[in-house]
Amino acid sequence: MYCVRKVNEDLYWVGANDNRLALFENIHPIPRGVSYNSYVLLDEKTVLFDTVDWAVCRQFLENLEAVLKDRTLDYMVINHVEPDHAACIEEIILRYPDVKIICTEKAFMFLNQFGFNLGEKVEKVKEGDTKSFGKHKVAFVTAPMVHWPEVMVTYDTTNGVLFSADAFGSFGALGGKLFNDETAFDRDWIDDARRYYTNIVGKYGPHVQALLKKASKLDIKTICPLHGPVWRSNLGYFLDKYDKWSSYEPEEKGVMIVYASMYGNTESAANSLAAELVEKGMKNVVVYDVSKTHVSYLISETFKYSHVVLACVTYNLKIYPPMLDYLEHMKALNLQKRTFAIIENGSWAPQSGKLIRKFLDGMKEMTVLDKDMSLSSSMKKEELDLMEELADSIIQSIK
Ligand code: FEO
Repeated sequence: MYCVRKVNEDLYWVGANDNRLALFENIHPIPRGVSYNSYVLLDEKTVLFDTVDWAVCRQFLENLEAVLKDRTLDYMVINHVEPDHAACIEEIILRYPDVKIICTEKAFMFLNQFGFNLGEKVEKVKEGDTKSFGKHKVAFVTAPMVHWPEVMVTYDTTNGVLFSADAFGSFGALGGKLFNDETAFDRDWIDDARRYYTNIVGKYGPHVQALLKKASKLDIKTICPLHGPVWRSNLGYFLDKYDKWSSYEPEEKGVMIVYASMYGNTESAANSLAAELVEKGMKNVVVYDVSKTHVSYLISETFKYSHVVLACVTYNLKIYPPMLDYLEHMKALNLQKRTFAIIENGSWAPQSGKLIRKFLDGMKEMTVLDKDMSLSSSMKKEELDLMEELADSIIQSIK
């Protein structure tokens, strides 16, 4: 059975949800599933904007057929060639052999790399080119590295719809609710939207900033991303989030404590610090076990909070491996502008604190507080004063 939604008078969502996939990109857990959005415009010409992942191709084709009814498909605009959106291009060509494909030169090259021989079917476009489909005239805006080099976004000059590719997307299956104002977005979606952005596009902050700058010159009324809800109201809310995430500014003043603990002693110290901070009035504190929390969640939360405490046991005279993995993800994603405090632990040669400090020193615009703690196997009552000083130092740096 088809499942479509009307976006506006002549634009339809024909995408599909995947609730079966466990790991997006085979890395990131998606317990709430994911949607692959595709849109079709019924103008004098019919135009499809991107396709979907292979896993949901059948649903997508049924949706497209239901919207087109007895019309054929004239154009397919490919904003992004990553296979979660481009996997069904050949299926479209098989069913609509006269379809013309609009994409950038680089997208054409990538499509060839993936084995699509599109040849004469392709109309290559570049920054600023426009195309009329009848009533609707669209402009093509390149958006390299948001999230791949070939990416473009397409702006409908007639009604202010922006087909934004991966930008402004989110993890999470739609469950019938297409529009942001059909959800309690700030309650139910923002964490998955942040986790999607920070882990998938987080590394490319400057490129997202460049796209935001271009977008600020357009009169955008509706944002149609390739994943998650369509934005037709309160656009400023999400644009502000994107501005913060892509400039690596924290969303909130708060403390994220991440601990790596083998037998519970480092965990105990982390909880002691959390309690001390809350007692001193810093209520925006969250605590995570690095061994039990998938790194995509840790990254997302690290983009959210201004301060991070790393409490880490020493392992083989090195940083405990899951903590090192978290740090390496942080570095790979170009995270900046955070303040860190360190608690190390070790039974005969504590090293983790020194090594974490060195790691953070090699990152951009990271501040590590001078005050830290070194525990020998477990925290003792006599060290409570030191813990209080550490808490004071963190609170002082937040002000
Ligand atoms: Fe949703 Fe970069 O693909």
